[in-house]
Amino acid sequence: MKTTTADRMTDLLERSRRVMPGGVSSPVRAFGAVPGDPPIVARGEGAFVVDVDGNRYHDLVGSWGPLILGHAHPAVVEAVERAARNGLTFGATCPGEVELAERVLERYSFADRVRFVSSGTEAVMSAVRLARGATGRDRIVKFDGCYHGHSDGLLVKAGSGLVTFGTPNSAGVPEAIAALTDVLPLDDSEAAEALFAEKGSEIACVLIEPMPANNGLLPQRLEFLRRLRELTREHGALLLFDEVISGLRVAPGGMVERTGIEPDLVTLGKIIGGGMPVGAYLATAELMDQVAPLGPVYQAGTLSGNPLAMAAGLATLAELDESGVYDGLDRLGARLASGWSAALERHGIPAEVVRVGSVLWLSLQEGEAPRRAADIRPEAAELYGRIHARMLADGVWMAPSAFEVAFLSTAHTEADVDAIVAAFDRALSTD
Ligand SMILES: Cc1ncc(COP(=O)(O)O)c(C=O)c1O
Repeated sequence: MKTTTADRMTDLLERSRRVMPGGVSSPVRAFGAVPGDPPIVARGEGAFVVDVDGNRYHDLVGSWGPLILGHAHPAVVEAVERAARNGLTFGATCPGEVELAERVLERYSFADRVRFVSSGTEAVMSAVRLARGATGRDRIVKFDGCYHGHSDGLLVKAGSGLVTFGTPNSAGVPEAIAALTDVLPLDDSEAAEALFAEKGSEIACVLIEPMPANNGLLPQRLEFLRRLRELTREHGALLLFDEVISGLRVAPGGMVERTGIEPDLVTLGKIIGGGMPVGAYLATAELMDQVAPLGPVYQAGTLSGNPLAMAAGLATLAELDESGVYDGLDRLGARLASGWSAALERHGIPAEVVRVGSVLWLSLQEGEAPRRAADIRPEAAELYGRIHARMLADGVWMAPSAFEVAFLSTAHTEADVDAIVAAFDRALSTD
């Protein structure tokens, strides 16, 4: 019997739910916070994804950030194919690894050395271990709404993935581990000062997404980030900028470049792997040489520095080196933001489009866009859910959560952006 394509989607959805929790390998993909079923994706082409039924969608998810060049960019695919022909993994240093390390460090000149791992989670987890090892202190500080991957001590008030499912913290994290993490509100220097006054000598590091993008997009005031730098210095704690999203996205040197603030540690992921599984942490030689094999802080990985991932990262960085890339992304972002803003205004919906370059977020509430997770009103999620469903039916794939951002890529054209804006306008029109 011939299977129709529509059968294929239903069949795969059913089977996925039988064999994988929620049918997914990462929770937010399950569409738990928006109506409808998640389409199963067959392929990506530039600025589009195509599902197994052949439906084509303008993609605003970009695999959650890595795909700054869009899907299946020819230079990246070619680099990966070439690397694959030479072997998939060696468990030994490869030339691409050395080159990618050099290219990354050129962009983050405060740092001398980088260690590659296989995910953003691993990067931050390892960087925290290094901070603890180097300072001999146990406490860490994070901010409400910032996500730093799913290692135990960082799954405390950790943004979208948890907020989407209504749980600030994860089960399974021992109280003793969570107790070593202090959580502060963003945009609140006084709260940070008070915490340092009380526990400053016990704090190994302060972690922050310098452009918080995991619980809405909550750009921070420069003075606040500077104050964190001062406080950490005064108290002998390290400052970790988690740039897994913002690194290479908002500028070649990420938020370090944009703010001019030098942290002690930076974590990267997503874009540096060009769509392959990569994470990295970087710092000065003094700090990084505390990592094994030179120092006492142990960290290792079978597939770390994988040659395919290094090739994808190098090809991506080479494309980003072309002149005008970031200006082009910024122009596209501005076009999308102004189109969305105009549509919201036309339909009388109080909202603000928050944007940093090619990263956008719909703050669907009255008044100034929030700078703290606690100021995001949960009612926005219902309206977002309706918009999401209508956009998807109209061929635009937005993140399936009101708390997640939209990413543009160099594969998006002005015409794509205009089509996305037109679909948004239609989504707001429908009753
Ligand atoms: C800022 C930040 N840090 C860490 C991570 C974890 O990265 P990964 O999903 O690759 O483990 C993410 C993932 O979205 C992130 O946005």
